[in-house]
Amino acid sequence: MAAATLVEAKRIARRDAQRDQVLLHPTDFTLRAGQRVVLTGPSGSGKSVFLRALALLDPLDGGTVHWHGRPVAHGLVPRYRRHIAYVRQRPALIDGTVEDNLRYPYSLAVYRDTAFDAARVRSLLDAAGRGSDFLARATAELSGGEAQIVALVRVLQLDPEALLLDEPTASLDPESANAVETLIAQWFERERATRATVWVSHDPAQAQRVGTRHITMRAGVLDEPASAPVAVGALR
Ligand SMILES: Nc1ncnc2c1ncn2[C@@H]1O[C@H](COP(=O)(O)OP(=O)(O)O)[C@@H](O)[C@H]1O
Ligand SMILES: [Mg+2]
Repeated sequence: MAAATLVEAKRIARRDAQRDQVLLHPTDFTLRAGQRVVLTGPSGSGKSVFLRALALLDPLDGGTVHWHGRPVAHGLVPRYRRHIAYVRQRPALIDGTVEDNLRYPYSLAVYRDTAFDAARVRSLLDAAGRGSDFLARATAELSGGEAQIVALVRVLQLDPEALLLDEPTASLDPESANAVETLIAQWFERERATRATVWVSHDPAQAQRVGTRHITMRAGVLDEPASAPVAVGALR
């Protein structure tokens, strides 16, 4: 049985209107359940622009994103972003405790159908090597690595289908980077038939660990080796 197509981008494009510059050339990209994609490429080549466009975080200047075979209509975007979750390099946390941050999503309309699950959160924190005393820590006192763990647990507790990971360990110490990788690997392995990741990484050793499908980005164009099982058109 062919793996389900989670996301299919058709000729999505982004431009900088102010400078009249193309940021992302019309790009086709398909993400199937079970895939672990690694995206590399020089700084400024458009990796973040591409991931943010795929997550429908920034308005597209062309093309469409399909989710389970249907175009994502405007009103569906919040639900889409819940399931196809973008994780930033530098997490944005609210003031307060770790627990305040983990509870925060449930105050939003799009998560009204779910509730904070303390046991679930404890097991995720445990996978990241943090005890339940971590919940009471003030976010202002967290290291960058601890903040990234909070941001990731905040996303994972909501059961996303796919993670779009934008250099999530790039500024972390090795111990925290390891905890982040472990958390993501455990989440993926638990239901690999329905989940997928796209991981931007500059670290070749990490790219080998976290990806099986390797794509390079250059000047706003995706380039995937032709031998790869799924063709990606990076059309100009
Ligand atoms: N919102 C934006 N408006 C205008 N230019 C942008 C915007 N976001 C990114 N860029 C530009 O697009 C190019 C690609 O950026 P980015 O995707 O962040 O690169 P990277 O591959 O390092 O992630 C850069 O030249 C950047 O300055
Ligand atoms: Mg980037």
